Amino acid sequence: MSVIGVLTAGGDCPGLNAVIRGIVTRATQTHDAEVVGIMNGWEGLMDGDVNLLDERDVRGILGKGGTILGTSRKDPYVHGEGFASVAKTLERNDIDSLVVIGGDGTLRTALRLEQDGAKVIGVPKTIDNDIAGTDFTFGFDTAVQIVTDAIDRLTTTAEAHNRVILVEVMGRTKGWIATYGGIAGGAQVILIPEVPYDLEEVAALIRRRHRRGEKYSVVVVAEGVAPPHETEMQKDAFGFDRLGGVAYQLAPLIEDLTGYETRVTVLGHLQRGGTPSAFDRVLATRMGTKAADLAIEGQSGVMVAMRGAEIVSVPLALGCSEIRGVDDDLYNTAETFFG
Ligand code: F6P
Repeated sequence: MSVIGVLTAGGDCPGLNAVIRGIVTRATQTHDAEVVGIMNGWEGLMDGDVNLLDERDVRGILGKGGTILGTSRKDPYVHGEGFASVAKTLERNDIDSLVVIGGDGTLRTALRLEQDGAKVIGVPKTIDNDIAGTDFTFGFDTAVQIVTDAIDRLTTTAEAHNRVILVEVMGRTKGWIATYGGIAGGAQVILIPEVPYDLEEVAALIRRRHRRGEKYSVVVVAEGVAPPHETEMQKDAFGFDRLGGVAYQLAPLIEDLTGYETRVTVLGHLQRGGTPSAFDRVLATRMGTKAADLAIEGQSGVMVAMRGAEIVSVPLALGCSEIRGVDDDLYNTAETFFG
């Protein structure tokens, strides 16, 4: 009987449980295979912290945020001896194939393990939607809906006070959430890391708009935009930049330049918590079932991906090749509504 190991690593994302459910159900019901859940990402693979997963374990988790397997940012090549530190768990549990659900960093580690001899299938995961090789990642749609709802609410309070409101959203290096959320919420300006901004221009646009009689402006700011002045980046426990708060630096400058009272809302982890949208549930389910099929076929070094409306497999190396930015055409659509 084939045994599939599954782990979730890196930041969580709505839809992880739907992927796990998809893998377990497809593997056990369709392929008569076994699934071993690895706890807390790579950490569990290094420590041998694993549990057999069957249909009962995944009952009722489709709509739940977070991940029943837990997650961590530990990495066998950084915090262990690479392949050697996971080989024992793979062997002891007869794991034939590993399904790794994670973002670009996790997928890079998966690729290294594959090159070192493990059989690996990747499932791209991030609310940021910036993984190369796939048109969409699950979790993104949910985050965009949360941003859209927030903008709708912030617009009415801004309008009551003739204010400018800056809404800071996630997006470490790319502005997908900002662009989609901004378009959906009807924002007046959207600042993303891919497009340099000029605060004088932003202010001029806001001034013109309020002079025309409009009583509010909503500026969506991706957390990864360049800060207006030199800033020492805080690090998390694993040495990654801790983003969040650039809008607090921008707000007083915009207030000075426009003369309009300016307020800030940082949405932060609200965008990552809670139940996945229907779109994300379906996408995650399709990706999970496809990953199980690929594992059973004996494939390795591939990643499931959404291309158009299809779920396909692409080389894992493609998913690790770059961080995918917002395309010009999409941002141009957003710009049409600036001001
Ligand atoms: O990469 C996904 C993401 O949600 C980013 O948008 C954000 O900067 C980061 O994770 C936050 O990570 P943490 O949960 O470690 O603060």
